[in-house]
Amino acid sequence: MKFFITTPIYYTNDIPHIGHAYTTIACDILSRFNKLLKNDVYFLTGTDEHGQKVEKAAKEANIDPKKFVDMLSVNFEKLVNHLGCEIDDFIRTTEKRHIKSAQALWNKLIENNQIYLSNYEGWYSVRDEAFFQENELKKINGSFFTENGSPVEWVKEESYFFRLSNWEKKLVSYYENNTDKIAPKTRLNEVLSFIKSGLKDLSISRTTFKWGIPVPNNNKHVMYVWIDALCNYLTSINYPDIKSPIFRKYWPAVHIVGKDILRFHAVYWPAFLMAADLEPPKKIFAHGWWTNEGQKISKSLGNAIDPYEIINEYGLDQIRYFLFREVPFGNDGDFSKSAISIRVNADLSNNYGNLVQRILTFIVKNCDSHVSPSNKFNNEDLKILEHLNKKHKEYLDFMNNQQIDKGIKSVIELLSLTNSYVDNQAPWTLKKTNISRMHTVLYIIINIIVKSSLMLFPIIPGSAEKVLSFINIDINELDFDNFNELIDKDLRINPPSPIFPRIDQ
Ligand code: MSP
Repeated sequence: MKFFITTPIYYTNDIPHIGHAYTTIACDILSRFNKLLKNDVYFLTGTDEHGQKVEKAAKEANIDPKKFVDMLSVNFEKLVNHLGCEIDDFIRTTEKRHIKSAQALWNKLIENNQIYLSNYEGWYSVRDEAFFQENELKKINGSFFTENGSPVEWVKEESYFFRLSNWEKKLVSYYENNTDKIAPKTRLNEVLSFIKSGLKDLSISRTTFKWGIPVPNNNKHVMYVWIDALCNYLTSINYPDIKSPIFRKYWPAVHIVGKDILRFHAVYWPAFLMAADLEPPKKIFAHGWWTNEGQKISKSLGNAIDPYEIINEYGLDQIRYFLFREVPFGNDGDFSKSAISIRVNADLSNNYGNLVQRILTFIVKNCDSHVSPSNKFNNEDLKILEHLNKKHKEYLDFMNNQQIDKGIKSVIELLSLTNSYVDNQAPWTLKKTNISRMHTVLYIIINIIVKSSLMLFPIIPGSAEKVLSFINIDINELDFDNFNELIDKDLRINPPSPIFPRIDQ
């Protein structure tokens, strides 16, 4: 099966922060998980470089917009690597291939009579790059603001419109008949009630600034940044060449987005696509927002969390783990340093790390660094192996439904049960009383360590690979297909080095 997954493309008006890192890591986790399922994965991310917001930031920095976005885009591209994410394409909306693709989409919409020229008058928020109705705004000291506190300005200009109103009924019936297209469920209901409240035609071009893709055949207009930006998902797989193998293979995509940009992805985007005779997205998943020690993250508060800084402080896998174990994917979460140490110490140091450390060290010291297959299982052994299979099934179900936190929790529960099994079976005592039984117990534990590492690999790839390397197993030898089979060869164990040192609180 093929699996095309995308992050939103990030505005190049500032440097990356934890919110950007969060979406990118989420996609990496789902992408790695799908690779382990042997799906053919295509993972796309990139930068959103046009529009008034970016133009304004460039002006404030007193730098030519193209030079400005060249400078800022690099930071996002570098971050992908730093987060340990394996992508297939990094797209920039100022690239030639994208301009060609966005203009082709525009032309297709014109050809299908989905666009007309008229005049727009209304409120616009540059910060959100979005139009607002007056009833969506609040008035403070005579000025209007959005729900999130963004200032709005009154815009009055000639504009091209997309016939969004024509898509209202079609979108409602599409989502009512395909309830798996938006997740989590509450977001589907939100989108449906927004659509049902009535869709107006959407202004999709601007004339009052220049930093955008020119509208074909009318250079007075640049495209509204959202039609430009959304189109990136098509550009990467070769649009407008919809017959090209890559396009035929991968479209439609799974879009992972923050809850703030769900409307653009779940209302405008499927309408644009259907209006251009293309399939709507395979799925749109909206995640929540992070606050910092209880406070909303904002430029004005200057409390943005720098991903480089926290990775430097706690370690990459520790941060990847914390972000996806701590908060159910889809919910809002609060980032706090004490929560990171508590979580990492409890799950990674005391549970996974401790199991690995004590068992591998024991084998190196007492079993000449070797483990051999065994099948002389007693009831306790069969019970823990049953847990292994049960937790594995749970894990697959959860991960297939983007419930990453629950998937991780299943593995951690299995590791806790295994630590208790170790305590009860006490291989150090068996060494004196029953050597053959000791070997069986160690063989079972090694199997659980290997399989748990495989399940944790999408979340903490570096550490999981390191653990496997102590056991001389290559991650590429493993997959979920033969998960139920135990390892049938002798294993040589290397002396382990610590993987998750406890964090001082
Ligand atoms: N350029 C648009 C997306 C276009 S996609 C065709 C955009 N860019 S953004 O840089 O402002 O935001 C990108 C993503 O970061 C969004 O999904 C947003 O939800 C996410 N986050 C920004 N701040 C965040 C938090 N504090 N917490 C979690 N995610 C947040 O929107």
